[in-house]
Amino acid sequence: MITAQPSLEVKLGKLQLAYPTLMGSGCYGSGDEFAPFADLTKIGAVVLKSVTRRPRLGNPTPRLVHTPAGLLNAIGLQNPGIDWYVEREVPKYADRPCPLIGSVAGFSIDDYAYVCEQLAKCAPIAAIELNISCPNVGSEGETFACDPDLTARVVRAARATTDKTLIVKLSPNVTDIASIAREAEAAGADALAVINTVRGMSVDVETWRPRLGNVTGGLSGPAIRPIAVLAVYEVARAVSIPIVGQGGIETATDALEFFLAGATAVSIGTANFTDPRIPERIVAELQAYLGRRGLAAIGDIVGKANVGIVGAYQHGGDEG
Ligand SMILES: Cc1cc2nc3c(=O)[nH]c(=O)nc-3n(C[C@H](O)[C@H](O)[C@H](O)COP(=O)(O)O)c2cc1C
Repeated sequence: MITAQPSLEVKLGKLQLAYPTLMGSGCYGSGDEFAPFADLTKIGAVVLKSVTRRPRLGNPTPRLVHTPAGLLNAIGLQNPGIDWYVEREVPKYADRPCPLIGSVAGFSIDDYAYVCEQLAKCAPIAAIELNISCPNVGSEGETFACDPDLTARVVRAARATTDKTLIVKLSPNVTDIASIAREAEAAGADALAVINTVRGMSVDVETWRPRLGNVTGGLSGPAIRPIAVLAVYEVARAVSIPIVGQGGIETATDALEFFLAGATAVSIGTANFTDPRIPERIVAELQAYLGRRGLAAIGDIVGKANVGIVGAYQHGGDEG
């Protein structure tokens, strides 16, 4: 008897993916750099590096620092600007064997809307992710993702420019991520990416200088995984749109934590730098896990760890 393989297909808004594994923005280029080492037909989608309205040189070096179980980065959104990007870069992406998701960053609501509109017009771009972890120069540098009102306004403006699937990427550097998630959903997001990097800093004790050229940066990798799993859990209880969980995923077991906490899909970032075959391995192991348990689809486990956060607090489970 031939038994069907468990299905790993997922849907984010209108975007149908064969696999629930996205490659994180800034961690996979546009895919072609990884093509010699990885089978791009075995991944869900690549989220492209964030692009801004104007070209950006990025931050002074060093831009990457290793920390225990983590990576601190302060790239500074280096990119050629949307006009060059659309004209010279995106056309090269036409033959990628997996969907590409464009990532938009900006420093004003107008920036986001403009970049989103230009990017959404490009045929190779299947969906748009809004990286809202940027300061808004119009409100004394407050980060969009840290303010519910700014989040709502920027998502509404981006939503008005496109019918393509709109994923809003949330920052963990907030007090109440669920309230930001609710605003993004109400403003028209089709899905949420949870989480971006966690703010961090490292100091060289010989030179007495910060290790990053930019002084501060964003921490990624396994060090942030429990923070990310909790964020997914809290966001899943607050919204009904799909969540793309991310932060420190290196194995199928790591990915499963996110699905069980409430993610519909996951994203793999930093792990690609050490082993480009990790995403393929995760897909094979997810399929084996579902098969072993007699489950038909990845969707069958989404949110199954949702035991009620109030109970957890009552038992003092999160106190240090
Ligand atoms: C070097 C580097 C560059 C990144 N660039 C971006 C970016 O341009 N836009 C964005 O939204 N996220 C960016 N990220 C964040 C990742 O996409 C991802 O959300 C985060 O690193 C957490 O996942 P991970 O622990 O699997 O890397 C970057 C991360 C790293 C390590």
